[in-house]
Amino acid sequence: MEIPAIEGGKPVREHFKEYFPRISEHEKQLVLSVLESGRLASGVGVFVRKFEEKFKEFVGTRHALAVSSGTAALHTAVASLGIGVGDEVVTTPFSFVATATAILHNNAIPVFGDIELDTLNLDPETIVDKITPRTKAILVVHLAGHPAEMDEIVKIARENNLAVIEDCAQAIGSEYRGRKVGGIGDVGAFSFYQSKNMTTGEGGMVTTNSEEVYKSARLFVEHGSEERYYHVLLGWNYRMTELQAALGLGQLARIEELNRMREEIAKIYTEELESLDGDLLLLPKPKKHVKHTWHIYQVLLRLENLRVDRDRIIEAVKRENVLVLVSYPRTIYENPLFQKLDAYGHGCPWFCPFYGRRIAYKPGLAPRAELAARSVVTLPTLAGMSIEDAIDTAKALKKVLIYYRK
Ligand SMILES: Cc1ncc(COP(=O)(O)O)c(C=O)c1O
Repeated sequence: MEIPAIEGGKPVREHFKEYFPRISEHEKQLVLSVLESGRLASGVGVFVRKFEEKFKEFVGTRHALAVSSGTAALHTAVASLGIGVGDEVVTTPFSFVATATAILHNNAIPVFGDIELDTLNLDPETIVDKITPRTKAILVVHLAGHPAEMDEIVKIARENNLAVIEDCAQAIGSEYRGRKVGGIGDVGAFSFYQSKNMTTGEGGMVTTNSEEVYKSARLFVEHGSEERYYHVLLGWNYRMTELQAALGLGQLARIEELNRMREEIAKIYTEELESLDGDLLLLPKPKKHVKHTWHIYQVLLRLENLRVDRDRIIEAVKRENVLVLVSYPRTIYENPLFQKLDAYGHGCPWFCPFYGRRIAYKPGLAPRAELAARSVVTLPTLAGMSIEDAIDTAKALKKVLIYYRK
């Protein structure tokens, strides 16, 4: 048996390597052309509008609105549906925190369902019990690039007169029954952060088929102004720069290739780790009716068959000099913000008199999400990784798991 480096053995890799997106020559030229033109801000040049045109074509929606981040896209998506004070939104507890803070940013209350353990996505069966007269929407996340179970979720939404918001931050190009995510619900929100399947450094996009939602989203991201210096609602400056949009156009033109590379890496992880599946870990198994885009590769450890906990496994894999992550180490509601129930001071929005209901996020609220948070290990599929990088990453995890087998 191979001894892990943390126990005195030789690491899989001699040195740790960082991964960065590979920016093509064409993309560099596009960004340079913006710099040379001096047209840097949104609306001053042509790239933001072009990027929106191409992105809406790609997703297949009537509208797309470029914004400054995925978080801005989510904030805008929730706001553009008119969700606010006193409203509830049902969402997943197992995601990046921005999924839920986008609801709080609108003074509304996140209510958490639980997840399916096979996809780590919101389980439609846990939604109905959470619906109250205050519920206005369901906010789903297509986690890791695997689409949520949209037929059932949209059905529940329609039966209860709720909107559906799709957090597509990790799912650029993912498909559910042949349809791209971001155009299945009422409004979609994408992120182009550095690690995402395509990037603009920071950046995001709101997609929708609704003229009304699009109009209010556009107002929201431009200071609520209908015309210059005439402000009809409380808005923000969430605009994307021309530099970001130029890079985004270049990246979008090769998103299929970028997604294919992630798929290749995922295939390697599956091949390398298959022999441990069901025994020391559970590998992801995409549903037949989806196109997965593998933003990350999530495995769940079978802790009952291991001598140490997940954090020790992570420490040991890191000592092999490969990149390994935990997405996410706790459910959203286990974070102090959600335990102290105070976002704006005075307990708002949870204790806002316009809300009037008492809600607490107690341990055990979402047992499957809590189990996932304790046992998940995230393997990267980052642009910039080679096949060898993926093989070594899988080897490191495999070596550590076999060593710590009970
Ligand atoms: C599921 C999810 N939602 C929202 C976000 C927020 O996106 P951004 O970092 O671009 O603000 C991210 C990524 O960071 C994410 O993974």
